[in-house]
Amino acid sequence: MSYHEPTAELEPQDRDLHRALLSLKEEVEAIDWYHQRWVTATDPALKAILAHNRDEEIEHACMTLEWLRRISPTWRSVIATYLYAQGDITAVEDSAEKSGGAENGRGRSATNDEAADEPGLGGLAIGQLGASATGDAARAANET
Ligand SMILES: [Fe+2]
Repeated sequence: MSYHEPTAELEPQDRDLHRALLSLKEEVEAIDWYHQRWVTATDPALKAILAHNRDEEIEHACMTLEWLRRISPTWRSVIATYLYAQGDITAVEDSAEKSGGAENGRGRSATNDEAADEPGLGGLAIGQLGASATGDAARAANET
């Protein structure tokens, strides 16, 4: 995953977001690789090391996810909706959508106004990420 837009047009916040998403992707790939190696390894000591390494990568992925939660109202809202949800996961989505659409139904922590202010991350529109990430950073600074 590399830049898809001219880097000169990306704000520092956009670049940090890119770094975080790339890191998250790498951590998730590493989890999969270590898990496969753990499954197929035969030496018990090696298996223990591979399991340890896999679990470390899970920790790294979650740290990055937490960073995304802190800087983005949309990530925060979606995380609040889905993580630790009870029951059928797709039912959670159905419930969120029925309560006024995905943006309205997602969040306990993000308001509808925040979602509306975040067109790039909220609506997945290409080319609006810069304003969104910048707005996220400003909001995050105001919250601390
Ligand atoms: Fe890692």
